[in-house]
Amino acid sequence: MNRLAVYKKFAVLISFASLLPDAVFGTVVPRTANCQSNQYPGPTNPSFENGLSGWTVVSGNAFGNASVSSERSYWGGPFGQSGNNFLWGITESGESAVGILQSSSFQASSVMSFLVGGGWDPINLYVGLVTDADGKLLFSQTATNDEALIRIIWDTSAYAGQEVHMVVVDSSNATSWGHINLDDVRTGCDALADGSLTFNVLGQNNQPSQSSSLLTAAQLYALDQIRPQFHYTPYQGWINDPCGLIEWGGKYQLMSQYNPVAPVWGPMHWSHVESPDAVHWKELPVALYPPYPNDPSDTSGRYTGSALLDKDTGALQVIFTDATDTALHPDALPEVVSSAISQDGVTFELFSSNPIISSPPSDSSSGFRDPKVFWDITDNTWKMVVGSGDATSGKVQLYEATGSPNSELVSWKYVGVLYKGDGSTGPMWECPNFFPIDGKWALFYGGNGLGYYDVGTYNGTTFTSEKKGLLDAGPDSYATQWFVDSAGRNLAITWMGNWGTSKWPSRVNGWAGAQSIMRELFIREDGGLGSKPIREVSSLASGPATSLGATNVNGTIAVGSSNTARLQVSVDLASTNAPAFTIQMYSSSAERVSLVYTVANQSLALDTTQAGYGQVGVWTATIASPANKVLSLDILIDRSSVEIFAQDGTAMTATIFPRYQDSKDIEIVSRGGETVFESIVLTPLGSAWS
Ligand SMILES: *[C@@H]1O[C@H](CO)[C@@H](O)[C@H](O)[C@H]1NC(C)=O
Ligand SMILES: *[C@@H]1O[C@H](CO)[C@@H](O)[C@H](O)[C@H]1NC(C)=O
Ligand SMILES: *[C@@H]1O[C@H](CO)[C@@H](O)[C@H](O)[C@H]1NC(C)=O
Ligand SMILES: *[C@@H]1O[C@H](CO)[C@@H](O)[C@H](O)[C@H]1NC(C)=O
Ligand SMILES: *[C@@H]1O[C@H](CO)[C@@H](O)[C@H](O)[C@H]1NC(C)=O
Repeated sequence: MNRLAVYKKFAVLISFASLLPDAVFGTVVPRTANCQSNQYPGPTNPSFENGLSGWTVVSGNAFGNASVSSERSYWGGPFGQSGNNFLWGITESGESAVGILQSSSFQASSVMSFLVGGGWDPINLYVGLVTDADGKLLFSQTATNDEALIRIIWDTSAYAGQEVHMVVVDSSNATSWGHINLDDVRTGCDALADGSLTFNVLGQNNQPSQSSSLLTAAQLYALDQIRPQFHYTPYQGWINDPCGLIEWGGKYQLMSQYNPVAPVWGPMHWSHVESPDAVHWKELPVALYPPYPNDPSDTSGRYTGSALLDKDTGALQVIFTDATDTALHPDALPEVVSSAISQDGVTFELFSSNPIISSPPSDSSSGFRDPKVFWDITDNTWKMVVGSGDATSGKVQLYEATGSPNSELVSWKYVGVLYKGDGSTGPMWECPNFFPIDGKWALFYGGNGLGYYDVGTYNGTTFTSEKKGLLDAGPDSYATQWFVDSAGRNLAITWMGNWGTSKWPSRVNGWAGAQSIMRELFIREDGGLGSKPIREVSSLASGPATSLGATNVNGTIAVGSSNTARLQVSVDLASTNAPAFTIQMYSSSAERVSLVYTVANQSLALDTTQAGYGQVGVWTATIASPANKVLSLDILIDRSSVEIFAQDGTAMTATIFPRYQDSKDIEIVSRGGETVFESIVLTPLGSAWS
């Protein structure tokens, strides 16, 4: 697609959003009380169980009889259709085909819902509701760049009784994510619930506009039923890697790779939030803009980087990858290192001497990005690691700052390769971090979509690994960034996502991506790199904790019902005679997340195979046996995520997107014997937005 076409497309998107009626924005929960009074039958064959019967091909060849599929799964997991069949927009004529499909006419009820999947493209790929009389598009909803089907709810009460029809519009000829899927159109009360279970209210039309709303950030964030409350997420748009972590001006600074225009990756900005305590955040203006912000088709951007204090002036300096879209700028290098400085911690000014590293060192054919600055205690210099790799192996490049160590670090000298992989962790290492900790040196980086660490020794030029592992054993952690705060703690935040396997169903609400809570790093007893929540997380408590005290569990016990909570348990393994116990979270009769600890092999398994719209799988970690035989787990549950920390330093992070509002129960199950808990404490946690 040419640049102008894409630009126009985004311009249309922005004006389209502002044209939606105010009544729609801000009406988050449909009026369940009167939905009976306006119940009308919906369209014919609403779930495609009778093929395409009742649906009409209006134009194009994207849709036809072959569109109706009974496949149950694809490369990324289950489709999640209702009944046997659903409309799979790719099967009739492939990705690039275009066309419009229309339902039979029906009288609008006060509420309706349906399942949507396929490409994210609000202009060219959507399911819409149209009035018969004048052809006006009342609502539209695009999908998520995922085949899986997500339930959308529309408050149609303003049109109740009017003759309407649905349209399935595919005017995208894209060869990737150029199709849209639909299933299970419901009207009336059935739109809101399956039996006694109530659907989460999802869909872009339910999200109030941030700029025109009178609600506070905390209130706005609370309205979205799948949005984390005490983790940073962008209100709208996409985030990935944390950037520029530092304690500066007495506040913790968190910036993030950010695309404000859409909940998909794009021209990278840096979003910016700050916090007095590393857990409560306040939004600041965008810190860095891409070089061509008015042309969304130009993916040149300010990629991941790090921050430091200019001791001479007190300014905040950031050093980052300046990425250039070489398809549009063929004479430029794709990745160089640039810098910007801020006197007030809000507005950043690019250095006129940019780039500060104008080309990668030799043998960096896979890439050259994500500069991370650190103070080298072996020779009292500022150094910087940059991710890189050659045809076979990821590597970390080392630079040393020349000039005064107290002022703007804009002159850098190449030292050499700090450390190189054996190829098993991929040909490109991203987001390297390198720092002294507890008498050792820790190196971590992303390779092959996973976050790895090495702990070992360093002699000023070269790192030698003694112990390797994963920074996080769960499915949704990548691009972790470390920094030291004024208390001398080694802290880190990880992006709760990765490129290979994560799913972003929250795209239907206009946002994607979340950052972890602040973690403190330490060297584990086995020599590995461990993490735990910082103590300030306890200040998020929004009410008194429920403490079950010493409890012997044989069977199932209810711990509580919450999707924004901290669950802390201690298990006396010496007295436990059950072979395993399970902690169930986000649990209802329809779905749950299960965390199973098997005593014999000390294995902790996180199972999301029954857990809603997110990634489906089982992830395991072996938990080192504590000397006192007491296993402690600290679990942070936040509407669409779970972070699990074991006492040995193991972390497991997953994003979870429940289907039902009822999926909040927390239970502990012990079968085949007793699990002896020394304590079970459930603390409600509140909003991170001040
Ligand atoms: C689908 O198949 C039916 C029965 O063979 C046929 O009547 C109809 O025209 C077909 N529809 C389309 C869109 O091809
Ligand atoms: C997609 O559609 C546009 C606009 O109609 C057209 O210019 C372009 O050539 C099409 N691309 C393909 C691959 O068909
Ligand atoms: C550091 O170790 C590397 C690898 O053993 C060696 O080549 C280098 O000379 C050492 N540097 C110093 C300063 O000792
Ligand atoms: C531990 O044992 C359980 C139960 O036998 C088994 O399902 C699981 O796969 C084992 N885990 C590991 C990591 O060996
Ligand atoms: C656990 O409960 C079962 C049945 O409820 C009982 O038979 C068994 O003896 C109990 N086990 C222990 C260790 O209490």
